[in-house]
Amino acid sequence: MPLLEVKNMSHDFGGLRAVSDYNLVIEPGQVRGLIGPNGAGKTTVFNLLTGVYRPTEGEILLEGKNIVGLQPYQIASMGLGRTFQELRLWRHMTVLEHVKMARYSKLGYGLIGAFLGTPKRHRKEADNESKAYALLEMLGILQLADQVVTNLPYGAQRRVEMARALAMEPKILFLDEPTAGMNPEELIQMMKIIREIKDRFGLAIFLIEHRLRMVMELCEVIQTLVFGKVIAEGNPEQIQKNPKVIDAYLGTETVE
Ligand SMILES: Nc1ncnc2c1ncn2[C@@H]1O[C@H](COP(=O)(O)OP(=O)(O)O)[C@@H](O)[C@H]1O
Ligand SMILES: [Mg+2]
Repeated sequence: MPLLEVKNMSHDFGGLRAVSDYNLVIEPGQVRGLIGPNGAGKTTVFNLLTGVYRPTEGEILLEGKNIVGLQPYQIASMGLGRTFQELRLWRHMTVLEHVKMARYSKLGYGLIGAFLGTPKRHRKEADNESKAYALLEMLGILQLADQVVTNLPYGAQRRVEMARALAMEPKILFLDEPTAGMNPEELIQMMKIIREIKDRFGLAIFLIEHRLRMVMELCEVIQTLVFGKVIAEGNPEQIQKNPKVIDAYLGTETVE
């Protein structure tokens, strides 16, 4: 059974069909890419799959269960983690607090429970904290654990967002332009991190990216979306050679 399967999904914003008859199959451990010009509907696809919007038509099956109509937090707890194109961090919380907070929701007890705690809770709490530290280390932000996120450079904030998503132990991770606004050095770091996440956790990744080199290097299968429609799907080589893709996309976007 595929991890995630989308059948004939469409979405209208008023009169605008932002996503049209969209289909997708993601297998466990697969790394997939979604590219396309600005306004093509990429983020809308993510928002539909993560329950932010309810599709006008179509089915979304996560491990065979239809998740259409579920709330984003329910979908997240079923194993679908994500980051946002525009960062959504809690400005006054530290890096470590972000990751611990995400784990509390995973562990099924509230923040208050964590502090009131029984011995069992205390053990869980210690375990939670060591797992949080391990994630920060992997993402190269361990030394920033006690910093408030607003004070951090942009590249580091992106990593915090990723650590938070991973803290919920997703089966699939959606990344919406994880290198947006990054400098070349941060970009190389981020590519390394994505590879490492893939290798270490073996989780599936669905990546929206503007930088083609990154998508081509990381993804096994890539879809190209234009005006809400998938105009091409294939491996990096097939996508790079596809005349429709070159026409619709390569002329207008950064080829880095
Ligand atoms: N909440 C919304 N309400 C109305 N229109 C929207 C909304 N979100 C996105 N759109 C429109 O849908 C289209 C696709 O947007 P988006 O999914 O953000 O594209 P991309 O991520 O590929 O740049 C655009 O025309 C955008 O203006
Ligand atoms: Mg977008």
